[in-house]
Amino acid sequence: MRYQDSKTGLDTSRKILKVNHAGEFGAVNIYRSQLFVARLFMKELVPQIEEFLADEKRHLEIFRTEIQRRQGIKCKSYWLCGLGGYVMGFTSALFGRRGVMACTWAVEHVVVEHLHAQIEYLRGVNDEQALETVEAILEDEQNHRDVGFKSGGADNILYQPIRLLISLFTECVIRFGMR
Ligand SMILES: [Fe+2]
Ligand SMILES: [Fe+2]
Repeated sequence: MRYQDSKTGLDTSRKILKVNHAGEFGAVNIYRSQLFVARLFMKELVPQIEEFLADEKRHLEIFRTEIQRRQGIKCKSYWLCGLGGYVMGFTSALFGRRGVMACTWAVEHVVVEHLHAQIEYLRGVNDEQALETVEAILEDEQNHRDVGFKSGGADNILYQPIRLLISLFTECVIRFGMR
């Protein structure tokens, strides 16, 4: 998706910030629910998921701070992201280790694509502060995506339906939030 100048009252930079803020809330909930299941059935995954969760909590705070600084708003999809994230995380974890990693890969690869498009837009409009904010999380999200990939989240055909559903939901909430 290409990011363009906003045709509504809220400028594109603030839309990007609110959408990412909502997305981070979704991500926090994905890893929270996966952690819950992993503590019961997949103890070996706990440290990795805890690390992801800590990253997402930090990202949530980064966007919250920047939104407040420029009198932005909370996204209308904030609670939808939170609920969707929890359901996706929980359901995927019921499919075991590969389910967890399929979810991670599916979400994070869509996120990384959007971050690149956002960075391109923000460079174009010279919004340094918003650019720095988005760039601040890029490396972490790439790392999440790559861990998902290396841990088998992208290749097993049986998990393709999970990946498709999760990618589709992620793509849709981002587009919905940017409208
Ligand atoms: Fe994040
Ligand atoms: Fe992430």
